[in-house]
Amino acid sequence: MSESLLCLGIESSCDETSVAVVRDGREVLSNVIATQIDIHKKYGGVVPEIASRNHVENITYVVKEALEKANVTLDDIDVIGCTYGPGLVGALLVGLSTAKALAYAAKKPLVGVHHIEGHIAANYITHKDLEPPYLCLVVSGGHSHLVHVKDYTEFEILGRTRDDAVGEAFDKVARVIGLGYPGGPIIDKLAKEGEPTYHLPRTYFENLDFSFSGIKTAVLNLNNKEKGNINVNDLCASFEEAVTDVLTTNAIKALKELKLDKIAIAGGVSANSYLRNKFEKLGAENGFKVYYPELVLCTDNAAMIAAATYYNYKNGKISDWNLNAVPNLKIGD
Ligand code: KG4
Ligand code: ZN
Repeated sequence: MSESLLCLGIESSCDETSVAVVRDGREVLSNVIATQIDIHKKYGGVVPEIASRNHVENITYVVKEALEKANVTLDDIDVIGCTYGPGLVGALLVGLSTAKALAYAAKKPLVGVHHIEGHIAANYITHKDLEPPYLCLVVSGGHSHLVHVKDYTEFEILGRTRDDAVGEAFDKVARVIGLGYPGGPIIDKLAKEGEPTYHLPRTYFENLDFSFSGIKTAVLNLNNKEKGNINVNDLCASFEEAVTDVLTTNAIKALKELKLDKIAIAGGVSANSYLRNKFEKLGAENGFKVYYPELVLCTDNAAMIAAATYYNYKNGKISDWNLNAVPNLKIGD
C-alpha cells in the first residue's frame, strides 16, 4: 500500500452542502460545493429548517459528484471525515449521518471534525509550506477567534468576540443598509469605490478579546440619522476600516506576545480584500508572514474538512459510531 492517504470530507454545518476528496491533507482531487445562498437570500439570512431540507436533497448527488470528479470510488478512500459542530443541528446531522453510513458500509474509519479546525486547515491546501506553530485569525459568520496553532491538532484560544462575530456584523450592516445577503462580499465590493470618511468607534480590551457590536450599532445609527444622505460606498469603507483596525491590532499584539512571525487568516471574512491587503502591508512593515486561503477555500467547503480529517487521523483520532452533532462545540473538544 502506498503511503498516501485519501480523505473524503463532508461539510453541512450551515448553508453549503459540500463533499471533497483530498490527498495527504494538501492536494485537492475534488471539492464540490452546492450552495443554498440563493434560497436563503430572500429571507435575509439562513433559515435552519430550509437548510436541513436542502442538505437532504443534495447530499447524495454531491457525494457522487465528488467521487467522480476525483476519479476514485469509495473503495479507494482511506478515511471519511465530517463536520460534527459547531453549526445548525439539523444541517450537521445530514452530513454526519451520511458520513456514518458511508464509513460503516465501506468499512472505513470515521473522523469527526471541528468546523473551525477545518477553516484553519484550508490554509494547508493553499500554502504547501505552512506548518505550525503560527497564529490564526479565524473570522467567519459565527466565529471571531485568535488561535495559537501549536501543532496540527493542538490549539489555544487567545481571544474571542464578546458579542457579534465579524461576518455576522458584515451581514447585519448590509441587511440594514438594504444591500442584501450575504453582506460580506457586497460590502467588500462597494467599499472599493468609497473612502473611510465616517468615524466609527473601535473597542479594545485588556486581553485579546474582540467586540464588534459598537461598530455595527454606530453604522446603524448613522444610517437612521442621515436617511437618504448617506454615501453607502463611504460607509462600507469606514466599516471595513474600523473592523480591520481592531482585528489587525489584536493580531499584532498576539504575534508579539507569542514571538511568532506567521499569521494565517481563515473563515469566510478572510475573503475580504481590504483585510487581506492590510495584513500584507502590516506584515511587510512589521516582519511577519501572512497566509490566507484561495477564495473558494475561505467560505464553507469540504476540502478544508478533508484536510483537517487527515491531520486528526494521523494524530490517532477515530470517532465512534455514536458520534453526535454538537451545535456549540468548542475548539479542542
Ligand atoms: O466561513 P463562512 O462561510 O461560514 C461560517 O462558518 O460562518 O463565513 C460566512 C461569512 C458571512 O458572514 C459572509 O458575509 C462573510 O463570511 N464573507 C465576507 C466576504 N465573503 C464572505 N466578509 C467580508 N468580505 C468578504 N469578501
Ligand atoms: Zn464556516
